[in-house]
Amino acid sequence: MTAGVLSLDHVSKSFGPVRAVSDVTFEVRTGEVIALVGENGAGKSTLLKMLSGVHAPDSGRILIDGEAVTIASPARAARLGIAVIYQELSLIPWLSVAQNLFLGREREIGRFVLPQRRLREKARAILSRLDTDIDPGRPVATLGVAAQQMVEIARALSKNARFILMDEPTASLAAHETDVLFERIAALKSQGVGVVYISHRLEEIHRIADRIGVLRDGALVHTGPVGDKSIPEIVELMVGRPIGDHYPSRVPNPGAEVLRVEPAPAMATESKPVVVRAGEVVGIAGLVGAGRTEWLWRLFGASPGLGERVLLDGAPVTIDSPARARALGIGMVPESRKEHGLVFGRSITDNATITILERLRGLGGLLDRRRQIETADQFVKRLRVRCRDAFAAVDGLSGGNQQKVVLAKWLARECSVLLLDEPTRGIDVGAKHEMYTLINELCAAGKAILLVSSDMPELIAMSDRIYVMAKGRLVAEFAAREATQRDILLHASGLERNAA
Ligand SMILES: Nc1ncnc2c1ncn2[C@@H]1O[C@H](COP(=O)(O)OP(=O)(O)OP(=O)(O)O)[C@@H](O)[C@H]1O
Ligand SMILES: [Mg+2]
Repeated sequence: MTAGVLSLDHVSKSFGPVRAVSDVTFEVRTGEVIALVGENGAGKSTLLKMLSGVHAPDSGRILIDGEAVTIASPARAARLGIAVIYQELSLIPWLSVAQNLFLGREREIGRFVLPQRRLREKARAILSRLDTDIDPGRPVATLGVAAQQMVEIARALSKNARFILMDEPTASLAAHETDVLFERIAALKSQGVGVVYISHRLEEIHRIADRIGVLRDGALVHTGPVGDKSIPEIVELMVGRPIGDHYPSRVPNPGAEVLRVEPAPAMATESKPVVVRAGEVVGIAGLVGAGRTEWLWRLFGASPGLGERVLLDGAPVTIDSPARARALGIGMVPESRKEHGLVFGRSITDNATITILERLRGLGGLLDRRRQIETADQFVKRLRVRCRDAFAAVDGLSGGNQQKVVLAKWLARECSVLLLDEPTRGIDVGAKHEMYTLINELCAAGKAILLVSSDMPELIAMSDRIYVMAKGRLVAEFAAREATQRDILLHASGLERNAA
């Protein structure tokens, strides 16, 4: 592959009054990895979208190997050797891996539409460049998130991309899957591909990137070799002010047992009961696909139980619907906030208070608009939602800011048990800090909190105790102070049991 460089020269882009990207000059060379960081709404995705033909810059130039180019469409970007991997994967679930790899290009790779067998051979050759043994004949729907991401990367490679742009690729990966992705990125780099990599997980950046670019309010406020800046320095560049301890401390003060979930009798020897006390944060660790989300959904009454016995304040309860869960004082922040998330076309205020409208109704059932606005405002400020004001529609918010509004919506509801599924996924470092402070406050107020997170440092720092789930079973329990990432992973991957 010939050496090359993709550059932005004084590029700007506005959406109405919002200057999303402001006079950015920046380049990525083949064979290097650049990490692009910044708070939610800083302009990271917009920058990638200009390089991939989704948005046209208002001003400035994009150059490839020094020549100005116009990237009017994603197809054009692909022909220029630029591929993007968006956070929401874009594969078609019921088609095979091979079909997805060459979707819409079956004719390009041969004069006629190729038979499935030839397609699979070609697919296997590309997948082998990524060192994966994914079966090209498998339907994509049967693959886990991490494997699907590999297929996306393989698709980028199959188009002979010289530059691969990744928008938060590790957001939904567990630690060991992230390791695999990083190995692949290193392999791409050595094959001469230039990679731009967006992430809110700052501790990853020193592992993977050669250079770093920091965006703040649309402007590139820093670029340089990644080793030149520590994480606190990067945070300060992103936020514009120093942030104290990333994980605010909490004095553990657990009270009475609030929630107990006992496994179905048939699983009692393989799976541990889960106990959460008042004023306690209990973490659940596991690999992607371990069944943590399903377990939470069953507890919340949204999918049928598997014979688990649930006790609240010592009394057995039957939770057969989310309405019942809510009536019992159980609240949930779901993982897939897209699906369970926002009403588009409506304001931030309406969305953030949608779960508590009943409580905001005064005499005669009239909505107390002032209280509604106050409540929404409070969350917008705390979670640092970047917006014109709380009356703006949620549609124009950046990905992370939309997440924050969904969080606000679920947090606004008061409850005694709170189930949090990946609550900080996709939100920036400042908002994460606020989220942790909020969790500590809820905890101090005596709530029982269950936290599912694939961000292992976060899980260890924020939990009092940690259970590890593997294949739908709770296989181990640790005091968080004693848990190491390594121990947790050994149990999560089932290696511990084999070793014993
Ligand atoms: N299609 C759009 N219409 C209106 N405003 C938009 C649009 N896309 C982005 N914006 C605005 O542009 C700014 C930058 O958004 P962008 O999505 O690039 O942020 P980001 O850095 O990717 O944030 P995140 O970390 O939350 O994904 C934000 O203020 C956002 O509200
Ligand atoms: Mg984004």
